[in-house]
Amino acid sequence: MTDKQKFYITTPIYYVNDKPHIGHAYTTILADVLARYHRSIGADTFFLTGLDEHGQKVQEAAEVKEISPQEHCDNMAPEFLKLWDQLHIKYDDFIRTTEKRHELVVREVLQKVYDSGDIYHGEYGGFYCVGCERFYTEKELDAGNCPQHQKPLEYVAEKNYFFKMSKYQQRLIDYINDNPEFIQPNHRRNEVLGFLRQDLADLCISRPKSRMSWGIELPFDKDYVTYVWFDALLNYVTGPGYASDDEKFARWWPADYHLIGKDILTTHAVYWPTMLFAAGISQPKTIFAHGWWLMGDSKMSKSLGNIINPLDLIDQFGVDPVRYYLIREMVLGQDANFTMESFVKRYNSDLANDFGNLLSRVSKLIGKNFDGCIPDAGTMTPAECAVTQSATRIGDTVRGLIEKMRLNEAIEETMQFIRSVNRYMEQNAPWKLVREDKAAAGRVLYTAADALRIGAVLLHPVMPSRTMVVLKILGVEGSDLKWGGLKPGTKLKEHEALFPRIDLKKHKQPQPGPKEKNMENVITIDDFAKVQLKTAEVLAVEKVEGADRLLKLQIKFGTEQRQIVAGIAQFYTPEELIGKFIVVVYNLQPVKIRGIESRGMLLAAKKGKKLSLIILDKAEVGSGASIS
Ligand code: ME8
Ligand code: MG
Repeated sequence: MTDKQKFYITTPIYYVNDKPHIGHAYTTILADVLARYHRSIGADTFFLTGLDEHGQKVQEAAEVKEISPQEHCDNMAPEFLKLWDQLHIKYDDFIRTTEKRHELVVREVLQKVYDSGDIYHGEYGGFYCVGCERFYTEKELDAGNCPQHQKPLEYVAEKNYFFKMSKYQQRLIDYINDNPEFIQPNHRRNEVLGFLRQDLADLCISRPKSRMSWGIELPFDKDYVTYVWFDALLNYVTGPGYASDDEKFARWWPADYHLIGKDILTTHAVYWPTMLFAAGISQPKTIFAHGWWLMGDSKMSKSLGNIINPLDLIDQFGVDPVRYYLIREMVLGQDANFTMESFVKRYNSDLANDFGNLLSRVSKLIGKNFDGCIPDAGTMTPAECAVTQSATRIGDTVRGLIEKMRLNEAIEETMQFIRSVNRYMEQNAPWKLVREDKAAAGRVLYTAADALRIGAVLLHPVMPSRTMVVLKILGVEGSDLKWGGLKPGTKLKEHEALFPRIDLKKHKQPQPGPKEKNMENVITIDDFAKVQLKTAEVLAVEKVEGADRLLKLQIKFGTEQRQIVAGIAQFYTPEELIGKFIVVVYNLQPVKIRGIESRGMLLAAKKGKKLSLIILDKAEVGSGASIS
């Protein structure tokens, strides 16, 4: 006998610099639906998700809060766990990259690749984007800005360790060409092949601790930590037990699916496969990149602040409708637009009118005419044969579509089936039939109820909780798709409306930004947490020629020196300011004032024609200032 089919699926591990939003929820729900589906067809399933906790982005988020990076990670992890719990995500393993088991794997792989000669020490310069946690070459910049985040990037040059990624370029191209299912959908595969037409550079895989210390120390040089992507990607092999449990690893690896968003295609389709080549580990079967959830025309993202909090939606409508909408509405591979209108429309038509209505009709009629007990199936007429035939086909249709990652169509097919059963009910009108031929009415109700059961089984991976309610009402368990699963005589359980209709007028599109009009300037504590304030010592000050309001200040935070241009010349002389400790907004985008670069802003109190800077008596220079 052959081994049971296995299914290993992963999500990206999310950065803990901020709370999860609907985009993160989406990929995780998608993975959960696929995992639940495979469990339901009897495959042995392993679903891994987790958190990406190292790197500059997380270190900076912790600095803003004035806590250690580890403390920050420990505070954020429960936010994700709580959301996954509320979204009914049934993962098999949850990995955090700060765990010991992961550190061991990262160090093991680094040492292996180093020993085989694929890692070398060298000098490097590039434009670093903290948002992306990667270097860009000058060519890749968009008018000096990061092409993803549109923020100006700083040139960083330093000695680092490099992975000989270029060595594996041709091998990767051949692999992609030989394995059409490796990168999906096809337009993403072509995008990667296009990218690989240019020469691939080697990958800088270290960060000097002197600049960035929040990471896993290199096993061969204690002055460096591992680059966050080299660390994070390895989570996919840590989870199933690489280097710690060979039997487990052999059982699960290679992964069947790495689900990702299109924003992280290159790291997954280029960095990761070449890392695996170098480490002598086989390739995952499929890297699948889905599109983005958009709000209006822009990507829903933390930095744009146009995010929908999934918890708000769950509170209002329950978890299953949210899962249903996300999976039904997105065509995998394309972008999708999140609107409250389409959410409510989808809910009312599919869930309230089609699915919920079938249950309520069947259970009301059985309650009224058969003492609430499932009637006998009787002898089928052509009308019943038509229903059972489509019920027999629907399982295979759905399976085929899910295997092709056409989940929205799989749901649509299931809904078409449910709609056809509603039509069958109307055509055979058991509420009338019961007066002339009770057995015939019983036959129609049995048929509709068993079809409803099959619909619930098929929708179970998408809506695990309410479909379970339906199955319980019908007195069945399990995921059998065979016709005739209902036992005549079973008493139906009492229940409320499965999906009560939503009134759109009561639920307006959530608008990005403040909720109430008269509080337009009110920000949340999270908004405030984005502003990084630091105390600085003023080292030197001079007037700006030709501008009688401006002063140019050289200031110092710890070891870092910066220049700030401020409109305070009418209130302070240069001499008065030297040696003072001031408070500065540290993470402000640099600007040019009269052609002079200014990086940061001073805090001052102003009334009418008077202005006074916030000057501290004494300060630990470079510490974060906190305002309470
Ligand atoms: O990139 N629409 O983490 P991250 C759809 N730590 N999906 C979205 C989305 C949107 N608007 N916004 C986010 C990282 N996502 C790395 C990954 S893996 C080894 C390391 C989803 O917190 C989507 O899956 O920025 C995207 O790829 C992921 O969240 C990025 O999450
Ligand atoms: Mg991101």
